[in-house]
Amino acid sequence: MTATVLDGKSTASDLRETIAEEVHQWLEQGHARPTLAAVLVGDDPASQVYVRNKERACEKAGMHSRLIRKPADTTTAQLLELLQELNGDPAVHGILVQLPLPASINTQQVLDAVSPLKDVDAFAPENVGLLVQGRPRYLPCTPHGVIQLLVKYGLEFAGKHVVIVGRSDIVGKPLANMMVQRDLGFGPQFANATVTLCHSQSENLAAITRTADVLVAAVGRPCLITADMVKLGSIVIDVGINRVNDKLVGDVDYTPVSELAAAITPVPGGIGPLTIAMLLRNTLTACQLQAQ
Ligand code: GUN
Repeated sequence: MTATVLDGKSTASDLRETIAEEVHQWLEQGHARPTLAAVLVGDDPASQVYVRNKERACEKAGMHSRLIRKPADTTTAQLLELLQELNGDPAVHGILVQLPLPASINTQQVLDAVSPLKDVDAFAPENVGLLVQGRPRYLPCTPHGVIQLLVKYGLEFAGKHVVIVGRSDIVGKPLANMMVQRDLGFGPQFANATVTLCHSQSENLAAITRTADVLVAAVGRPCLITADMVKLGSIVIDVGINRVNDKLVGDVDYTPVSELAAAITPVPGGIGPLTIAMLLRNTLTACQLQAQ
């Protein structure tokens, strides 16, 4: 079996076009232009690229983006002050603090200072709680991207065994929460999964992953998922982005796994582009919620 390659780049491009049309209509109705403020602290090269891509995507979709760069020695208190300003600025609808922050900064305290209404990453406890209860304000960007890709290719997962490897607050935990819901707005066939959430302490990881109809790898470790861990005919979603010898690779040993799987995401060009598209979606939603 050779897997269908799930093209995140073209899926993201279609979604961005739809969002751009919605922004256009929103502006025609006389509303404010949706504006994202991105806060970048320090000079981590990967973060600089990510933030630049987010800014460009905003502009292309007809939204404003405001990049606020701060030096690596910025204090937690200074960031809290900046976030208070952005929270109170009616021209800013969405706020994104690019992670990771330098080690000297209290990341949790900084993230907690983002107004839940402007929290387009959906990291705030209030937004996490709303999601868990099945009434989300914002869907977290990367998990939302995973589901959009499955929807695009008609890969229904209701009643299927979804195994997620990685329990991060950004991907693993919220994705598990989303996939078990009754309906998140994509229809019941793109919900209602039986979810197993694995992590570094899980015993017999390979025995569990081999039972997955849909296997999601979101750890950040190259080649963590090898062919012996994958069921024939399964769907493999690789959320990992790792730099190995100046090359981007995912968490999945791509070539051997793609000979077993029915469908697989590449890295790059898989989930990455969808994360940005979903950030645009949330920025437009933020603007609409704040106009009410
Ligand atoms: N760094 C890596 N991924 C993300 C993300 O989704 N949001 C933020 N704010 N920072 C990140």
